[in-house]
Amino acid sequence: MAILALFGVLAAACVGRPPEDATGQEIYLQLCSNCHGEGLEGGIGPALGPRSDSAALPDRFLTLTITEGRGRMPSFSSTLTGDQVDRLVEYLREEQAG
Ligand code: HEC
Repeated sequence: MAILALFGVLAAACVGRPPEDATGQEIYLQLCSNCHGEGLEGGIGPALGPRSDSAALPDRFLTLTITEGRGRMPSFSSTLTGDQVDRLVEYLREEQAG
């Protein structure tokens, strides 16, 4: 059993699942910043900050993109809980407003 539990922990670490209570910013920096930039300036993926296309897109589009993936962006439905996705979208909105 202990072996199985350890295996579970390692498997979770491999996909880089953030802690359940991680803030939107922590989740963003762990899972999104390598493609969208630490300051949301974009990179492999489009910019997500103020005046970006996604600032004008509805919450539903952001949530769907994160959970289902889009184009070359992977799906995060098995990595993040619904609450974590909501926190992530809130974080993006705060940054876009700033
Ligand atoms: C492997 C690189 C990669 C990772 C990791 C990634 N994305 Fe993306 N993301 C992309 C690409 C590429 C697109 C453009 C997809 C398309 O339209 O074809 C995109 C599109 C988006 C869009 C839509 C923006 C627009 O203007 O259409 C949002 C919102 C978004 N990503 C948020 C996130 C969030 C939040 C995370 C972290 C959970 C994340 N992405 C992780 C590559 C990535």
